[in-house]
Amino acid sequence: MSNNTIEFCEVFKRYGDKTVVDALSFHVRAGECFGLLGPNGAGKTTTLRMLLGLVEPGAGAISLCGHAIPSGARFARQRVGVVPQFDNLDPDFSVRENLLVFGRYFGLSASKTRAMVPELLEFARLESKANARVGELSGGMRRRLTLARSLINDPDVLILDEPTTGLDPQARHLIWDRLRSLLARGKTILLTTHFMEEAERLCHRLCIIEEGRKIAEGTPGELVESEIGCDVIEVYGPSPTALRDELSPFATRTEISGETLFCYVRDAEPIHARLAGRQGLRYLHRPANLEDVFLRLTGREMQD
Ligand SMILES: Nc1ncnc2c1ncn2[C@@H]1O[C@H](COP(=O)(O)OP(=O)(O)OP(=O)(O)O)[C@@H](O)[C@H]1O
Ligand SMILES: [Mg+2]
Repeated sequence: MSNNTIEFCEVFKRYGDKTVVDALSFHVRAGECFGLLGPNGAGKTTTLRMLLGLVEPGAGAISLCGHAIPSGARFARQRVGVVPQFDNLDPDFSVRENLLVFGRYFGLSASKTRAMVPELLEFARLESKANARVGELSGGMRRRLTLARSLINDPDVLILDEPTTGLDPQARHLIWDRLRSLLARGKTILLTTHFMEEAERLCHRLCIIEEGRKIAEGTPGELVESEIGCDVIEVYGPSPTALRDELSPFATRTEISGETLFCYVRDAEPIHARLAGRQGLRYLHRPANLEDVFLRLTGREMQD
């Protein structure tokens, strides 16, 4: 019986005197897409690298496909496809050669890998680039190739570190579509992303981490309901502080970020009535989303 699950139990990692992963626990079930979200430097890549046995955890227990990590990493990785945060393709080889070489790492026969290549090129919409050198591809094409390459061993589990960063909107939709079809085929996916829309569309469940600690976990819908639970009116215009003073009596909560005032409202009418037709202001009334949750929990200011 296959065990396509991922388990993190009270995992710690320190670099020098800085704790970058702090008592992190989460569980990814077979067949689900699980998101690991967090601001820059939160510890997402370190977490994935520990899962792959590339970085030694300071303490805690990790398992991947039923193998204890790091001791069983070599066995687990046979069943895993990986997209690292930064592409590590060979720039001097062609697109096709990069796929063939990668197949060899998994001990696949040349004929078996060759037979996979057309399907993978189609997956990445790189059919016309099969013989182009990777050094001649655009950044987005390279990203698509890295994703296609991660499927060469027909993995049960995919570990994707920012799979769609650097992709244009069309390519991002293509990848979402591809990832959904992989989920429909029963694959398990663990991904990191800075695109809240991506997490909202793809992830069955997710956790948000900050400074290595888990600060929230649930389905996107549960998190939006529990952390926000109402609509949002965004108001763009000069002097957001004066606007806040005027509108806050009609909102459950307000926030300012740059020139934008965010009003969290159960009843939008009183604010609509005040803003309608006002010169020099634009506003947008929308349901709350995962980005609101993320920014509420991690702050609207940059961290680093
Ligand atoms: N090899 C290393 N040596 C020392 N510190 C490191 C090392 N690798 C990562 N760090 C630190 O660990 C923290 C977490 O880094 P990590 O790359 O895991 O973050 P991340 O969540 O993936 O961020 P991003 O969204 O920017 O990719 C950061 O403070 C980073 O500077
Ligand atoms: Mg990272």
